[in-house]
Amino acid sequence: MSGGVYGGDEVGALVFDIGHYSIRGGYAGEDSPKAEIPTMVGAINDFVETNAMDIDGQQSQTQKKYSIDTTAIHSPRKGMEMTTFLKDGMIEDWDLFENIMDYTYKKHLKSDSMLHPVLFSEASWNVRAKREKITEIMFEKYGIPAFFLVKNAVLAAFANGRATGIVLDSGSSQTSAVPVHDGYVIQQAIVKSPLGGDFITMQCKNYFEEHNVEVVPYYAIGSKEVVKEGEPAKWTRRTTVPTEGLTKTWQNYMVKEVIQDFQASCLQVSDSPYDKEMADNIPTVHYEFPNGYNQDFGSERFLIPEALFDTMNIKGITASVMGMSQIVTTSVGMCDIDIRPSLYGSVIVTGGNTLIQGFTDRLTRDLSTKTPPSMRLKVLSTNSTAERRYGAWIGGSILASLGTFQQMWISKQEYEEGGKGQVDRKCP
Ligand SMILES: Nc1ncnc2c1ncn2[C@@H]1O[C@H](COP(=O)(O)OP(=O)(O)OP(=O)(O)O)[C@@H](O)[C@H]1O
Ligand SMILES: [Mg+2]
Repeated sequence: MSGGVYGGDEVGALVFDIGHYSIRGGYAGEDSPKAEIPTMVGAINDFVETNAMDIDGQQSQTQKKYSIDTTAIHSPRKGMEMTTFLKDGMIEDWDLFENIMDYTYKKHLKSDSMLHPVLFSEASWNVRAKREKITEIMFEKYGIPAFFLVKNAVLAAFANGRATGIVLDSGSSQTSAVPVHDGYVIQQAIVKSPLGGDFITMQCKNYFEEHNVEVVPYYAIGSKEVVKEGEPAKWTRRTTVPTEGLTKTWQNYMVKEVIQDFQASCLQVSDSPYDKEMADNIPTVHYEFPNGYNQDFGSERFLIPEALFDTMNIKGITASVMGMSQIVTTSVGMCDIDIRPSLYGSVIVTGGNTLIQGFTDRLTRDLSTKTPPSMRLKVLSTNSTAERRYGAWIGGSILASLGTFQQMWISKQEYEEGGKGQVDRKCP
């Protein structure tokens, strides 16, 4: 069995962290991922004539042609729909997943997959069949020498120097609170809420629609003129762009990117529960849209993200959803009373949506009013944008390069002897 242990750190291990917004991949031991690729890809149905009859007796088959990565998805193509391989943080479309992995190895990592051990992050609620499937694909298709799978919350905790704590991860598709104890996720206490970055994008979109702000994406603009604040934009459509055949999903994605930039540039979470009078007195932020329309944004900067913390006034949502601090307190409340102090003692904040200005301050404030006075509250969040967005990846980078970790890998030999079920035995 000793031969089964992957012995080498001769060649760098690769670390992959997958989210609904982007896929992060790079070498263990480095500070940040070498590649970040959008998770959404363009898909065009390609009709291929085949000689073999398929089960329906049809001779032409539809095959999907994918456009992967920033440049490819930005070029307007007729009939190109935006799609993803992920659902609720878990891989759903394995064919598309493999297409993206092929692309990443070839274009970004520029290396042979057979040379590098691979550490993958996974959603803390990932299921057994999917864990086994990814193990199988990595060994069988990519011929990797060793593999390991770790829950992304555990990796984010490691990146913050903690093996115990509660990880509040607000990404694009959702926000989750995941308690981690001694490096293990407490599964039955995971709490999730649909309020993440995409939700904020929708809120902004609704706001713009209500206030007649037309969000025109970059691809559509040929020329524009300088206009005064609040005045109608003067712009012309780019003539090289097809006027028909562009799908709704693609156009929406292009609009979404503009709004995401607005989110990052303008929004701010207020220190204490939103108060219009106070927000009206706070300096405005000037923002210019791609078509030249520009405006000073004031109280709306605070009002839109307020929904993350105060869910009472969210339009269009009737079912009860939890706000940021409630997710944390609910999750901690579901854990054993003995470990609650250590969870409140390390509230780890990660994910791109937490970068909205003021997010951590408000969370700290809200939590301090809700935590029992006997418990010491400590909210940990790195100031660096990259570290907050790449938390899980960085944790993986640290873990996979630790000397003591090298005996943990599932080696190729162990996989060959024990099969894909090795992942259930070796990766908690
Ligand atoms: N500086 C910023 N300010 C505000 N929001 C930001 C900032 N940077 C990124 N975001 C938002 O963060 C989200 C992406 O976060 P992240 O990269 O953590 O998501 P993900 O892990 O890919 O997705 P998920 O966790 O849902 O699977 C997007 O909604 C994006 O608009
Ligand atoms: Mg994420």
